[in-house]
Amino acid sequence: MKMKPEWDKEFTDRLRPVEDEMHWLYNELYNDDHAYDYFLTMLWNSYQARSKDLRAWDRKRIKAGDWYKSSKMLGMCLYTDCFAGTIKGVQKHLDYIQECGFNYLHLMPLLESPKGRSDGGYAVSDFRKVEPELGTMEDLAKLNRACHKRGISVCLDFVMNHTSEDHIWAKRAKAGEKEYQDRYFFFDDWTIPRAFEETVPQVFPTTAPGNFTWCPEANKVVMTTFYPYQWDLNYRNPTVFNDMCENMLYLCNQGVDIIRLDAVPYIWKTLGTNCRNLPQVHTLVRIMHIASQIAAPGTLLLGEVVMEPDKVVPYFGTIEKPECHMLYNVTTMASTWNTVATRDVRLLQRQMNVVCGLPKQYMFLNYLRCHDDIGWGLDYDYLARFGIEQVAHKKYLNSFLTGNYWGSDSRGELYNDDPRLGDARLCGTTASLCGTEAAVYEKNDFKLKASIDLDVMLHAFLLTQSGIPVLYSGDEVGKLNDYSYHQDPLKKDDSRYLHRGKFDWNLAEMRKDPSTRQGMLFERLMKLIAIRKEHPLFDASADTWVLQTNNDCVLGLGRYYEGEKLLALFNFSENDQTAWINEGETYTDLISGETMDAKAVALGPHSFRWLYLNYNDPKFSGEKEEA
Ligand code: GLC
Repeated sequence: MKMKPEWDKEFTDRLRPVEDEMHWLYNELYNDDHAYDYFLTMLWNSYQARSKDLRAWDRKRIKAGDWYKSSKMLGMCLYTDCFAGTIKGVQKHLDYIQECGFNYLHLMPLLESPKGRSDGGYAVSDFRKVEPELGTMEDLAKLNRACHKRGISVCLDFVMNHTSEDHIWAKRAKAGEKEYQDRYFFFDDWTIPRAFEETVPQVFPTTAPGNFTWCPEANKVVMTTFYPYQWDLNYRNPTVFNDMCENMLYLCNQGVDIIRLDAVPYIWKTLGTNCRNLPQVHTLVRIMHIASQIAAPGTLLLGEVVMEPDKVVPYFGTIEKPECHMLYNVTTMASTWNTVATRDVRLLQRQMNVVCGLPKQYMFLNYLRCHDDIGWGLDYDYLARFGIEQVAHKKYLNSFLTGNYWGSDSRGELYNDDPRLGDARLCGTTASLCGTEAAVYEKNDFKLKASIDLDVMLHAFLLTQSGIPVLYSGDEVGKLNDYSYHQDPLKKDDSRYLHRGKFDWNLAEMRKDPSTRQGMLFERLMKLIAIRKEHPLFDASADTWVLQTNNDCVLGLGRYYEGEKLLALFNFSENDQTAWINEGETYTDLISGETMDAKAVALGPHSFRWLYLNYNDPKFSGEKEEA
């Protein structure tokens, strides 16, 4: 490859070592040197458009290496409008975000998106324009600068599988321009769409059945995997890939640090397949990884791969040829809620065994709740060993977590109930699923305390895991479900709005009063967060293992890093339990400060222990000398 004379040294130095691979991959898909040349020029232009400050930021991050792997990272995910009305409003609340210890801020989609046909902002009509009600691109760039000054990194969605039907490309396609129809999947009649439907599952079987939509303006059928107004982009067309990469780098150049690759498994379609996770997707993500590391190396790619466990990990790529820097730990999340409902930790234990066995370089983004539903993508082959059958089990989980099972105080709602497959998913906030909503309604203090105990235990489990813990806005103060969406004609069909309610700043104020439920929860969560930040043993480089507790209600995890050791025990049942462990040495409980043996440890209902030991303590070196 000949480097172009106008390219500067920094750009060429970054490009040279990876160009051969990138060219190879690009040609594997497109075999089009003209398009590749355009792609390289686009990379150079994006690199040049990057501000001086951001370039300095890049160099700092390259030097710092794995800056995002520190155990001090803690995230919050929020909707701009729910949290503070506008982007400027979010900026005004940065003190709050810092008070909670968050240094990673995921702003839910905020680019222009048609009202009522936006899927919560996931139908973008202009990738260069902020939704006017939320502010401007300049506001976003300003917020990003303000965040950087405070050491906060910003994550933004890049909705790359589809555009809104109002995007200029879609409008021109509707008007009959072939060039733009070729950016999507257009068909003259239903023959091929019907053939696709035979092998392609449905994402929204109830709210948006089918994968195709009739487009009367063009008199054709168009592919719409998600909602009918979200038109799938055709990445077989190199122009689509080039232009979308340019859009991504444009967002990086506004100071966005983490690009969330929305619905990335879906971006390549082939007739006769399920159109998910096809090998070409990995090629595209690898090229995007390389491209971003050349033009904006301070940015990271976070893959939204909400798939069964064996489909997720390949998106990390290999250590030498990485794809995504980070992935959602969706299986651990779903297995956690499974365990809340079953109080049987064996599935979660198995999942943690898998996670502990992965290379430490693989960074997960861990979470309890996010803006989406909880899908029951569990390891059913494993559950089958206990005679547990998929449909019946999902039914049980959904009954329990919607409060329709004896003894359950959970208050969730079903999502996309598909009676044919018995495949409903679930919505609700953490606090409502833990029983806080029922306790408040019943004015039952005993239940309230129990629900907060469960909420805190789940967060302790979240914070024990390697990776970046990301809380969903409101969870830090026990935000409850918001039923007002039932009255909103634009939202009522999508129960995910149950947990997308407005953040109530008056209730959040109560966090300062420890006699309120908000205060009780907040104080305990802040303590956990402070402990995590203080101890390097929560670092992603730590050794981790599953600790056998010989009690199916108690999950045990171990961590070790540079002389520090932690034994973490989580009681998922509402009864007293004993963790039948028998470890040497004396430990300190990081929460209560008490000294105790790690032998037959008693745990109250939904409680946990963080038992800590530091071999760097002089008492250990003394012992060694004596020996
Ligand atoms: C992702 C988002 C989800 C959205 C979908 C379509 O899965 O998380 O909210 O509906 O993509 O863009």
